Amino acid sequence: MKIKNICCIGAGYVGGPTMAVIAQKCPEINVTVVDINENRIAAWNDEDVENIPIYEPGLSAVVKEARGRNLFFSTDVEAAIDSADMIFISVNTPTKTYGIGKGMAADLKFIELCARQIARVSKNDKIVVEKSTLPVRTAEALKNILDNTGNGVNYQILSNPEFLAEGTAVDDLMNPDRVLIGGDINTEVGNEAVQALVDIYAHWIPREKILTTNVWSSELSKLTANAFLAQRVSSINAMSELCEKTGADVNEVAKAVGMDSRIGQKFLKSSVGFGGSCFQKDILNLVYIAKSFGLNEVADYWHQVIIMNDHQKKRFASNIVKTLFNTVSGKKIAFLGWAFKKDTNDTRESSAIYVADYLLNEQAEIVVYDPKVKREQVYADLDYLNSRSEDENRQRVRVVNDPYEACKGSHAVAVLTEWDEFENYDWQKIYDDMLKPAFLFDGRKLLERKKKEEIGFEFYAIGS
Ligand code: UDX
Ligand code: UDX
Repeated sequence: MKIKNICCIGAGYVGGPTMAVIAQKCPEINVTVVDINENRIAAWNDEDVENIPIYEPGLSAVVKEARGRNLFFSTDVEAAIDSADMIFISVNTPTKTYGIGKGMAADLKFIELCARQIARVSKNDKIVVEKSTLPVRTAEALKNILDNTGNGVNYQILSNPEFLAEGTAVDDLMNPDRVLIGGDINTEVGNEAVQALVDIYAHWIPREKILTTNVWSSELSKLTANAFLAQRVSSINAMSELCEKTGADVNEVAKAVGMDSRIGQKFLKSSVGFGGSCFQKDILNLVYIAKSFGLNEVADYWHQVIIMNDHQKKRFASNIVKTLFNTVSGKKIAFLGWAFKKDTNDTRESSAIYVADYLLNEQAEIVVYDPKVKREQVYADLDYLNSRSEDENRQRVRVVNDPYEACKGSHAVAVLTEWDEFENYDWQKIYDDMLKPAFLFDGRKLLERKKKEEIGFEFYAIGS
C-alpha cells in the first residue's frame, strides 16, 4: 500500500512541524494540514515564512522548502479528508474542565468530533492515525464511531505518539531516538496499514528505530515516557529544597548523580517547575486511568509528581514575598521569561503564569519581558485563571519588548525561563537602574551567582 495523500487535522505545535518534516522528506506525498482556526491557517500561509504561527528553530526553512510544493495549509477540512489515504488526528486534548473527571481526565470531545466528521465525509478506505496523546484505549472508541456512523468504508486505526519536545521539534523529528507505531498487528490488513506508515518514516529514519507494537502498548508508552521524564524533574526539584536547607548545590548534586550511567544526565535540571502542554495533562490522565481501575496506590504514586511540581512553583513565589520583607504590595517585580521553556513561544502550563498569579494575589505589580511571547498571550494566560478581572490583569501587569525597560525601577527581577540571552545582559546596568536593595531570583539556575553578587545583587537561586 502506497500513501499518496495525507491529511492532518490540527495545525498546532505537533501537527504543523510533524507534517512539514514529512512533506520535506517525502516529496512524492501530498500533505494537507487543516484546522478550524482560520487565523492559524492564514499565518501558516503567510507570504513571509517567518510569520508562521509557531516558533521552532529550523522550522521556517523546512516550511519554505515544502510549502506550495507538496505541503498545504487549509481550512477546508472535508475536502482534505475526502482525498486523503491517511489522516492524522493532531487536535488538542486538554484536561476536562467540567463533569466527571474534571481537572484530571482528558477531554476527548475534539477527537470525537474529528471521528464523526471523517465518518461522514469518507467515501473510500482510510488509515486514521492518532497523533494527539490519548488515554489508553481511545483507538477503540474511534473505531467504534467510524464503523458505526460511516458510509461502509473500512478504517484502520494506528497510534503514532509524538515524542518531539518543543524548542527542538525539528531536530527531534529529523533524528528521533525512536518512532512508535501501534496497530492491529495480528491481522493482515492491520499489518499493511502499519507498514504504510513505517514506509513513510523510513524515508529518513533507520528501520531499526521504528518500533511496531499493538495499539494499547503504543498509547500507554507515550503516557509512560512523559510520566518518567516529569518524575525526574520532580525528583531533582524535591532535592533542590533540601539543598537550600543544607548548603548543598543542586547543580553539583545533579552532575554527580547524572554521571552514573545508570541514571544519566538528562532531565536533572532543577527549575521553578515543569510546564508545557503534556507533562501535567498526561500524568493526570495516567492517574485517572489507574483510579478508574481501582489502582489507588498506582494513582497516588504518580500524582505525587504533580503535587511536587505545584509545591515548587508556590515555594518560589512565596520565597519572593518572604525575601522582600514579607510584602510585595505595590512593589514592581520584573519577569524575565514567560514561555514554559526556552526556544518556544508556547506558554501552556508555564510556571511563570502561576508565579505571577501568586504575586498578583499579594498585590504586586508585574512587568514581563519574553523574547518570543506576545503581549496578548500573557493576558490570555492570566485571564484564563479567572483569579481577577481582565481589567485588573491589564492594570497590574505590563508586557514590554525590552528587558532593560522591564527591570528598570523594579524591586526584584525573577528569571522564569532559561532563555540563553538572559545571562548575556548588561547586569551592571540592570542593577544600577533598580531600587535598592536589588533582588534577583533565579528560577532556572541560569545565572552565575558570583558575578551577580559582585555587582551587588541579593541573589537567590533554586537549589542552593
Ligand atoms: C496536541 C495535543 O494537545 C496533545 O495532546 C498531543 O500530544 C499533540 O497534539 P498541540 O499540537 O500542541 O498538541 O496542540 P495545539 O497547538 O492546540 O493544536 C491543536 C489544533 O487543533 C489547534 O490549532 C485547533 O484549532 C485544532 N483543532 C482543534 C481543529 O482543527 N479541530 C478541532 O476539532 C479541534
Ligand atoms: C515533552 C516531552 O519531552 C516530549 O517527548 C513529549 O512528546 C511532549 O512533552 P515538552 O513539553 O515540549 O516535551 O518539553 P520538555 O523539554 O520535556 O520540558 C517540559 C518542562 O520540564 C519544561 O517546563 C522544562 O523547562 C522542564 N524541565 C525539563 C526542567 O525543569 N528540568 C529538566 O531537566 C528538563
